[in-house]
Amino acid sequence: MQDSQLYPHALTGRPVISATGLFTPPESITNAELVASFNAFVDRHNAAHAAAIAAGEVEALAYSSVEFIEKASGIKARHVMAKAPVLDPEIMAPRWPERGNDELSIMAEIGVAAAREAMARAGREASDVDAVLCAASNMQRAYPAMAIEIQQALGIVGFGFDMNVACSSATFGIQTAADYVRAGHAKSVLVVSPEITSGHLNWRDRDSHFIFGDVATAVLVEDAAIAPAQHWEIVGTKLKTVFSNNIRNNFGFLNHAHPETAEAADKLFVQEGRKVFKEVVPMVAQMILDEAARLGIDPTGLRRLWLHQANAGMNRLIAHKVLGHEASEDESPTVLDTYGNTSSAGSIIAFHKHSDDLAIGDAGLICSFGAGYSAGTVFVRKVG
Ligand code: COA
Repeated sequence: MQDSQLYPHALTGRPVISATGLFTPPESITNAELVASFNAFVDRHNAAHAAAIAAGEVEALAYSSVEFIEKASGIKARHVMAKAPVLDPEIMAPRWPERGNDELSIMAEIGVAAAREAMARAGREASDVDAVLCAASNMQRAYPAMAIEIQQALGIVGFGFDMNVACSSATFGIQTAADYVRAGHAKSVLVVSPEITSGHLNWRDRDSHFIFGDVATAVLVEDAAIAPAQHWEIVGTKLKTVFSNNIRNNFGFLNHAHPETAEAADKLFVQEGRKVFKEVVPMVAQMILDEAARLGIDPTGLRRLWLHQANAGMNRLIAHKVLGHEASEDESPTVLDTYGNTSSAGSIIAFHKHSDDLAIGDAGLICSFGAGYSAGTVFVRKVG
């Protein structure tokens, strides 16, 4: 069958972003609340091991500090799916009632909420959408794929699959969706990123306990022929991966550890934050400049950068290298302060919240970077 018979419009093979959606968990933890809980845990730990600490057999744990967290990262608060257990010094992990197999999984639930908003903003019915990609740092289970559960909950006929490229999952998902459109294999693809990062964060680790937050985003990538009049042309996408152990999580069905042992920390998020900072900033800045040159875009003319939200200092440096001057909040908006690092969803939250005010013709960049290492650029231009 010809495309023209399948669809009322002749497809163009040109991918665009039609709309985005966002689910923000209602509960939020401030740095002050987080540090109070962490320091209570430190007191308990040091009291419980007082003799061993005095004998030099166990190292005393040190307090965390609100000032350090904000100065080193720019994070002031983070949303979470379950605040009370995360702050309980006896638990320090998210907990929620076990759900049966006939109930919607928690990851699917927040992914569906974000997807519904993206679909509503584009005026889409489930029957308009061909595919669902669940692109996130962590999947709740091995199978069936989260994407297929989200697809089912939305009533979409077609296909779905999960993909994980850590913090770059969403941009890799956008390129994958764009490639389906370019190839004519789909006309409308949802890229859903439910990031319940509170589950992989080691809330007992002073170096990283403040980093992450929970959220879900959705990006609707479509053929220009069916997109709403106002949309974002995807001018070009570029992906890059370079292996590094500096951000790692060994959780997995082949890697077991008893939760009480030291190895358990190895099955959660660990990083060499300084090395990541130093190595990723130049890699990403150069990648953006190379890709802009390839696309014939003057990077200094980009109206806005929606950068991955891991560290305010990293974004300042990257934006400076790309724009050629210190970026204003308007040129490189931050959502890190209230959301924390939301892994792959961060740059999409920034885009979702800070793109309506751009003028037709304005060009911008969605850019992710993180574990792998992985990085993705999506250059867009507003059309209307
Ligand atoms: N409270 C108080 N002090 C703390 C602390 C805390 N929670 N955590 C660490 N410190 C101390 C350290 O002990 C160290 O003390 P010292 O100088 O006496 O040894 C000092 O603060 C600096 O620690 P360091 O880990 O080097 O901090 P940093 O300035 O590198 O900031 C990060 C840490 C994680 C915020 C920063 O490295 C970062 O964001 N890197 C990029 C990470 C990234 O993008 N990761 C991607 C994840 S997807």
